[in-house]
Amino acid sequence: MINNLWYKNAVFYCLSVGTFMDSNADGVGDFEGLMRRLDYLQGLGITAIWLMPFQTSPGRDDGYDISNYYEVNPRYGNLGDFVEFTHAAAQRGIRVIIDLVVNHTSDQHPWFRQARRDPNSKYRDWYVWAKKRPPDSAKGVVFPGVQKSTWSYDSSAHAWYFHRFYDFQPDLNTANPHVLAEILKIMGFWIQLGVSGFRMDAVPFVIATKGAAVRKPVERYDMLRSIREFLQWRQGDAIILAEANVLPDTDMEYFGRAGDRMHMMFNFQVNQNLFYALAARDVRPLCTAMRATNPRPATAQWGQFLRNHDELDLGRLTRQQREKVFQEFAPDPGMQLYERGIRRRLAPMLAGDRRRIELAYSLMFTLPGTPVIRYGDELGMGDDLALTERNCARTPMQWSTEPNAGFTKSRKPVSPVISSGPYGYQHVNAAQQRRDPNSLLNWTERIIRMRKEVPEIGWGDFQLLPTADPAVLAIRYDWRNNSVVFVHNLDATPRELAFDVGLPGEECALLVNLLSEDHSHARGGRHHLMLEGYGYRWFRVGGLDYLLKRSDVETPPAHRRRPAASRTRR
Ligand code: NOJ
Repeated sequence: MINNLWYKNAVFYCLSVGTFMDSNADGVGDFEGLMRRLDYLQGLGITAIWLMPFQTSPGRDDGYDISNYYEVNPRYGNLGDFVEFTHAAAQRGIRVIIDLVVNHTSDQHPWFRQARRDPNSKYRDWYVWAKKRPPDSAKGVVFPGVQKSTWSYDSSAHAWYFHRFYDFQPDLNTANPHVLAEILKIMGFWIQLGVSGFRMDAVPFVIATKGAAVRKPVERYDMLRSIREFLQWRQGDAIILAEANVLPDTDMEYFGRAGDRMHMMFNFQVNQNLFYALAARDVRPLCTAMRATNPRPATAQWGQFLRNHDELDLGRLTRQQREKVFQEFAPDPGMQLYERGIRRRLAPMLAGDRRRIELAYSLMFTLPGTPVIRYGDELGMGDDLALTERNCARTPMQWSTEPNAGFTKSRKPVSPVISSGPYGYQHVNAAQQRRDPNSLLNWTERIIRMRKEVPEIGWGDFQLLPTADPAVLAIRYDWRNNSVVFVHNLDATPRELAFDVGLPGEECALLVNLLSEDHSHARGGRHHLMLEGYGYRWFRVGGLDYLLKRSDVETPPAHRRRPAASRTRR
């Protein structure tokens, strides 16, 4: 089931149409506005957009409560606008993947309305019901502190329905073959309208067994193959990027041993340990997470991210580790959420410290996988903690110093624009940063360009290089007879370090700095670096003639540097 592997060396950009750009002054972002901003995204250099839910929805969970899978929410435009948008993106070489939210629907979806009204409706069995309140209904809530139960009583159905998330999001009965058939139909529909795949929401819950009698849900991984198969039959280069915050020992179940299930997954394991590493200046648990998530089929890929539209979930860390991250990045309880996470944006978490923001991004861009940026993070946008739950980090994009950051001409934007303090649009906006050669926006553009020129990260194998300093992460990637090395100092104080590139041959004597002129020449076989506080280096091993050495036929590192004559003699 090999397909076009474009996602192995891509840069994803996640955005929500409603908060990106409003073209008709009604206060809500729309497809027309987004289309006008595609040049900005092209300039930034991203290669794929992950578009958050935009279908018809009452909007009680930022669109993750869909009431019609085959329509665009009228606030954002219509299907015609959507097709114009996918076309315009394709013209600029940008792919679009969209959210596939099929664990649940909105309680306003006609399927659910019929199901609750009529016990004989075919839709009754599309949801999960119980006559009596199931005994463990208070267990397994996803939003503790806000959500009380996973079962709610419906007075018209005279029955309890299951909802893994909020009570207005009844779970679909994904064991029903008609539901699965409908999911495939939804995928087929959007594929036909020009998307290159899906970010599949809540995958472990979609495939779990559901029902009042289920004490411990069991994942039905074979469903993932059916979904993948259908997608590939319809469109060979379409992908699924799974949202599955699972432990490394089940990763293979999601990717499929033969690479026949999910193409990509977000690496939540690395994400949480990365924040721990930044907080504690200790990369050792991160290294463990990287090694644990390393085994995967060659065609599979990790999505590496820092922040997304949800809370930064730290639920997989130990209590002590989590406390450390809270203490460093979210000391005030109001910055924390759901007893496990942080609801802030990246820049304020890192106290707006440019060195630390660059360090975090440099790490994300050089971790094994494909980077996924969140809109506004390229500007260092902040959050509005006065907004509830996760809404604080979903404020409109800050385009300029015009009223409402140039996001809308309306006086009432869909969500308040950040208008005061150091992250107010008067100080943080795209227009100013575009002009400033030293801005974070221009740094991000440059780092994206360089990232795209280093396919070794997305395609190659990595080795962690010993540095004897827990605050320093040194990684080498090898791919097609080329190697690159990345070194990061997570501490505020400078570090002097010595390390071995770990490859045979003279070529290791030179590390060419990809971002500045200060190259490294080995002394006694080792490289000696002076890394400033939060410093980072991107190196190519050997000279810049690497493209001449890149070859479809890989020579194992051990043989790579021998003179050609000795190789032919063997
Ligand atoms: C995960 C999404 O990222 C989140 O925003 C949403 O609330 C839940 N799934 C439910 O769809």
